Amino acid sequence: MTTAIWLFGYGSLIYKVDFPFLERRRARLDGWTRRFWQGSHDHRGTPEAPGRVVTLVPASQSVCIGMAYRVTPDVFAHLDHREKNGYVRETIELQFDDGTRADAVVYVAAPGNEAYLGPAAERDIAAHIANARGPSGENREYLLNLADALRELGSDDAHVFDIERELRAMA
Ligand code: SIN
Repeated sequence: MTTAIWLFGYGSLIYKVDFPFLERRRARLDGWTRRFWQGSHDHRGTPEAPGRVVTLVPASQSVCIGMAYRVTPDVFAHLDHREKNGYVRETIELQFDDGTRADAVVYVAAPGNEAYLGPAAERDIAAHIANARGPSGENREYLLNLADALRELGSDDAHVFDIERELRAMA
């Protein structure tokens, strides 16, 4: 029998679920925050004009709410390809709403990877996103889908919602 493991999604893995899973539960990572600091050469931008997508950044007082999926290990061939532009699998402990904890695989894009862009003001990130597109579509669609998904999850993510507000104000 193959052992199922938890996968934690905090970006497109929340709203674009193109992989099979056994169970899905809202969960959180303590000590991490979601940031639009990763470049995208292959989904929401191109190598010449990268888009901006989210990564996780350690932040001791923060909580990142996302979706945990119980999956069988065979899904990682597909996910490693999907997340290949700078993300590496890490194992991080998550917490479910009932307080129970489990180790989860999380795709994290660390500073220094080939597509990393790093911090910028929310307004500048919004302007960047407004003008980027790639093989998976408009960068703005990634942002708006993520913001909608986070509202549904009840996540009060000031960084994402500030960028969404700035982008809508530019439209
Ligand atoms: C994730 O969603 O967990 C990773 C980042 C992304 O694919 O947007």
